[in-house]
Amino acid sequence: MLTHEQIMSALKHVQDPELHKSIVDLNMVRNIQIDGTHIQLEVILTIQGCPLKAKIQEDVEKSLRNIGASTVSLTFGSMTPEERAELTQMLKKSSTTKTGMPNMLRPDSGVKFITVTSGKGGVGKSTVTVNLAIALARMGKKVGILDADIYGFSIPAMMGVIQRPTMIDQTVIPVISHGVKIMSMGFFADNNNPVMWRGPMLNKWIQNFLANTLWGELDYLLLDLPPGTGDVAIDVAAMIPQAEEIIVTTPHNVASFVASRAGAMAKHTKHEIVGIVENMAFYEEQDGTKNYLFGKGGGDMLAEILQSEVIARIPFAKRDENKGLNVYDEDSLTGEMFTSLAEDLIHRKIVS
Ligand SMILES: Nc1ncnc2c1ncn2[C@@H]1O[C@H](COP(=O)(O)OP(=O)(O)OP(=O)(O)O)[C@@H](O)[C@H]1O
Ligand SMILES: [Mg+2]
Repeated sequence: MLTHEQIMSALKHVQDPELHKSIVDLNMVRNIQIDGTHIQLEVILTIQGCPLKAKIQEDVEKSLRNIGASTVSLTFGSMTPEERAELTQMLKKSSTTKTGMPNMLRPDSGVKFITVTSGKGGVGKSTVTVNLAIALARMGKKVGILDADIYGFSIPAMMGVIQRPTMIDQTVIPVISHGVKIMSMGFFADNNNPVMWRGPMLNKWIQNFLANTLWGELDYLLLDLPPGTGDVAIDVAAMIPQAEEIIVTTPHNVASFVASRAGAMAKHTKHEIVGIVENMAFYEEQDGTKNYLFGKGGGDMLAEILQSEVIARIPFAKRDENKGLNVYDEDSLTGEMFTSLAEDLIHRKIVS
């Protein structure tokens, strides 16, 4: 005869697939009835029609069979609004301090914040953010992307994400794509219409994105910023002074000149500059020769102005280096460049 304790301790290992916490700790297990080796129980779900029911069912059955259950009959219920509110409180307690400040902002949180900026639009900030994040995740790091380009969000589309995040009350569970947790204003915009938030709201949104998103444990949070030195950049700087900055430029001098404004901003806000990524640096021809379509020298010039260094030169991607998305295959030339940038970041070969 199995005991209640045995069952609970077996179920402790079953996680809610979205919240990544034990269903026992989340108080989701109810009405356990034991009849010899036949177990009956109820699991209550955070939201109705939870798409991950099947996974929970499989995991529950497996763990109970492992301790000797012959049959498991599992029914699903859903939380009452009060229970959901209690759960949100509990989840938030672990992610925010008493004053509501996100725990991840504490200096000892272990989260590395990296903002990706440029002076000029269209140089590849979002592309760099996405591919660097994925490269870090491939190396086993826990990575999130905060799409801080709140008017011009592009991260979900670039990564091919069409689903919306699950919300428990006002709390958002980030969507995971290519092993990276993503949060974007794009999830809340209707039909990709631009979002019309204004000054004070912007600041609040970034705070919300940090505090009301269940990021869980993270090693890196990459922030894809809008171009230039507007309100969002200033708010991010104020909110996350410990962030370090990657500045993206093309080799073209003019772009580089504009990018230096974002760099000047980084100096101004005391954000450390990790380095300069020169994007679209060259095109590799069939025979391996490099064709410098956009000229040369932009990255180096900017590095000199900012007393920093060029940490990567990313080539023009070829058509066959991705699968229709802005995610470059790991074994393509462009993909390899991002892998090596991620390695350098992890091992801090890059002096910031
Ligand atoms: N290395 C590359 N090879 C080929 N195409 C690239 C490369 N980097 C970026 N692109 C393309 O250039 C365009 C602009 O890139 P991206 O959106 O990443 O720039 P951005 O700086 O984030 O732009 P915005 O300022 O509009 O946010 C995209 O269509 C992207 O697919
Ligand atoms: Mg962008």
